[in-house]
Amino acid sequence: MIDEMTTVLEPAPLPDFVETKYVKDITSRALSFIKAGFPVHFRGPSGTGKTTLAMHLASKVERPVVMIHGDEEFTTSDLVGGEYGYRIRKVVDRFISRVLKTEEDMVKRWVDNRLTVACKYGFTLIYDEFTRSRPEANNILLSILQEKMMDLPVGRGGEQPYLRVDPDFTAIFTSNPEEYAGVHRSQDALRDRMITMDLDHFDYDTELAVTQAKSKLSKQDSQIIVNIVRSLRESGKCEFAPTVRGCIMIAKSLKVQKLTPSRANNVFMQMCQDILASETSRVGSKTNQDRVKEIVRELVAKELGIGKTIDVGKKSGKDTTGVDTIESKKVEEKKERKESESLAGVSS
Ligand SMILES: Nc1ncnc2c1ncn2[C@@H]1O[C@H](COP(=O)(O)OP(=O)(O)OP(=O)(O)O)[C@@H](O)[C@H]1O
Ligand SMILES: [Mg+2]
Repeated sequence: MIDEMTTVLEPAPLPDFVETKYVKDITSRALSFIKAGFPVHFRGPSGTGKTTLAMHLASKVERPVVMIHGDEEFTTSDLVGGEYGYRIRKVVDRFISRVLKTEEDMVKRWVDNRLTVACKYGFTLIYDEFTRSRPEANNILLSILQEKMMDLPVGRGGEQPYLRVDPDFTAIFTSNPEEYAGVHRSQDALRDRMITMDLDHFDYDTELAVTQAKSKLSKQDSQIIVNIVRSLRESGKCEFAPTVRGCIMIAKSLKVQKLTPSRANNVFMQMCQDILASETSRVGSKTNQDRVKEIVRELVAKELGIGKTIDVGKKSGKDTTGVDTIESKKVEEKKERKESESLAGVSS
């Protein structure tokens, strides 16, 4: 029993979790499906908050949580359990206080795995990226979700071949339909037993709140980063759309160096280019990277220009961020005009 319990998580609020209107709305819709007795499946591209939402939803169910991460190598016994070596049993007899008697024996034992534990005790199961596991391994879930019965493999010893699933048992699934490696199309029969909620990238307020909460950067600076990432995403010119993780990475990298977009000069530009070019490309081909870097350069320039967060006019006229503001252009033009006028004066 103790061994089984080591895999159980206590539902607790996640650190830096933000609950915007968008998050509240999805959670309450999902919770109403769960209350009606249906498993919920969050499906969406990378970085759309599936795992975090699944954990948040599980915390709302207020039951202990067990978590499984889909894996190509999984077999049914990885989910259900199996005979794992031997258990050493030690009995310490202190019936007569000064006489210590110990007794040891070894028994081959069956160990329930997480799925069995969740069904037996009515816990909440989070099956993250379940489509990474092979369909044969997942078949055990069909009768659990429909008939609320779990088929136990022979060898569990002594007990019934079926386990009645506790009525408090709840399942939350996540999957990414776009993933390229090691994914099995979710079996139709399994998908038919759950309610799928398709998630897209966060709305503006949520993306901003997450970036700010995770990095502790100011709202204004977080806004600049979120604007750049969202514009790049909406440009549709990337192999993979940049995600909120890109925002978090840029924001945290700035914070750790105690910089802000406006005070970082071209460090900010390079940071955005490095992070976003790598996040949006699978193999990182040079042409791809160069194209994304060029778009990012334009977006950063536009953001910093619009936000008037830099005061390039006061500098030597050459802007170190690579941003040509109207102010700096005027200074440059004036200087050029003066030079040509004086040159003209010399020659005449
Ligand atoms: N409501 C939230 N509050 C705070 N941070 C959040 C919230 N939702 C998501 N995040 C953060 O956003 C990032 C992406 O979220 P998450 O890992 O849940 O996405 P995912 O859809 O599971 O991605 P993947 O498909 O790559 O596993 C994580 O760093 C996570 O901590
Ligand atoms: Mg995830």
